[in-house]
Amino acid sequence: MKKPWSGRFQKDTDELMEQFTESVSFDRRLYEQDIGASIAHAEMLARQELLSETELVEIREALRDIQGEIEKGLFEFHLGLEDIHMNIEAALIQRIGDAGRKLHTARSRNDQVACDVRLWVRDAIDEVRDAIRDCQGALVGKAGQYREAVMPGYTHLQHAQPVLLGHALLAFAEMLERDRQRLAECRRRTNVSPLGACALAGTGLPVDPQSTAADLGFEAVFSNSVDAVSDRDFLIEFVFALSMVATHLSRLAETWIIWSAQETDFVDLDESFCTGSSIMPQKKNPDALELIRGKCGRLYGDLMTVLTVFKGLPLAYNRDMQEDKEALFDATDTVGMALELTARLVRTTEFKTDNMALACEEGHMDATALADYLVARGIPFREAHEMVGHAVQAAAADGAKLEDMSLEQLRSFCEIIGKDVYGVLGVRNCVENYRSHGSSAPAELERQLAEWNERLTD
Ligand code: ARG
Repeated sequence: MKKPWSGRFQKDTDELMEQFTESVSFDRRLYEQDIGASIAHAEMLARQELLSETELVEIREALRDIQGEIEKGLFEFHLGLEDIHMNIEAALIQRIGDAGRKLHTARSRNDQVACDVRLWVRDAIDEVRDAIRDCQGALVGKAGQYREAVMPGYTHLQHAQPVLLGHALLAFAEMLERDRQRLAECRRRTNVSPLGACALAGTGLPVDPQSTAADLGFEAVFSNSVDAVSDRDFLIEFVFALSMVATHLSRLAETWIIWSAQETDFVDLDESFCTGSSIMPQKKNPDALELIRGKCGRLYGDLMTVLTVFKGLPLAYNRDMQEDKEALFDATDTVGMALELTARLVRTTEFKTDNMALACEEGHMDATALADYLVARGIPFREAHEMVGHAVQAAAADGAKLEDMSLEQLRSFCEIIGKDVYGVLGVRNCVENYRSHGSSAPAELERQLAEWNERLTD
């Protein structure tokens, strides 16, 4: 296979070298961006009179034909042509000859690949942000469906204070919202055109990078050609943002796995997202959740890959940079699928609210409410904390709850306690009495649901 750069070479490329350095087996995924950017580049060349109108038409039509063939699976890719860029250019030249040979005027694969990847990441960001929205929609839907349900809230995986199930579900929606914001901010830095930087130094030919940037929907154009071809920090940032999404999904998955354990038994996972055991006939395992958690490892691996590839690179373009793509694609595909699966899982899960209520009876989760009751009557918090600690000890020794204790018993820990204490004890009372902003109070859940529903219809 004759290389476009073969002029100064006398020997053929070593076969293993060809296999080791090719990227077309994976960067063919950039074909649409590559062709779109080539057409924008050709149009600019024609405006600048570096191509004739006829040549432009020939190039545009042949590139569209090539795109059609790729989409139909009819295009023949050659490893010997290294990457998607040279494969498409070689096919173009084969079809239209000299006009095709002119396309690479005032362009290098260095600004070409930077441009293609920016366009690809820009689209990927939009898709991931939509997938996050859908997942948030599923969480908000469930939260609205179980407005009343109270469950144990945990710290250190120990019963802490009661919370509304809906409030806990919306915590995940909030995390994902920050991920959406992070992606939107990353999109701004991604949406800058490097086209026209050429190999690294720009060109003496009369090009117009502003116009190709505008045609490709970029918000800005590079200001330093060396930076334009060297930089992939937008991509690293994107893989980080995806890793953060994966982290949030993993925490959700882990939480739900615990909720599905027999000891907890708060959820009934839809069978279509569970698997059985090859030996134990009774098993129903939460594999989908486990793999959502497990895939996180791949994301961190992808992030380490792209960070490490760039850490030691001198200016400007280096071939190492080709190693960014498989990690980028893997991270995008994995998070895309995990988000979709999470949304389906959330939508199909049934919550066992009776079991949640039962679990709330354990662990004296109203102890903090009792301390607050004393504080409201003038006892310094630290003293109240200690008094309630003693009361909990006594209740636990009897296998009782605080609300089971008689007024007399309770007054033995603090004589200020009155009959109204029974309006404070018990998990339902705790939840009803929360009133601070963003708390697990029913009114705060309603406020959040209203805000979310508005956001989701935007
Ligand atoms: N496949 C290459 C990459 O992904 C394209 C750029 C090649 N440039 C070069 N000067 N060899 O980075």
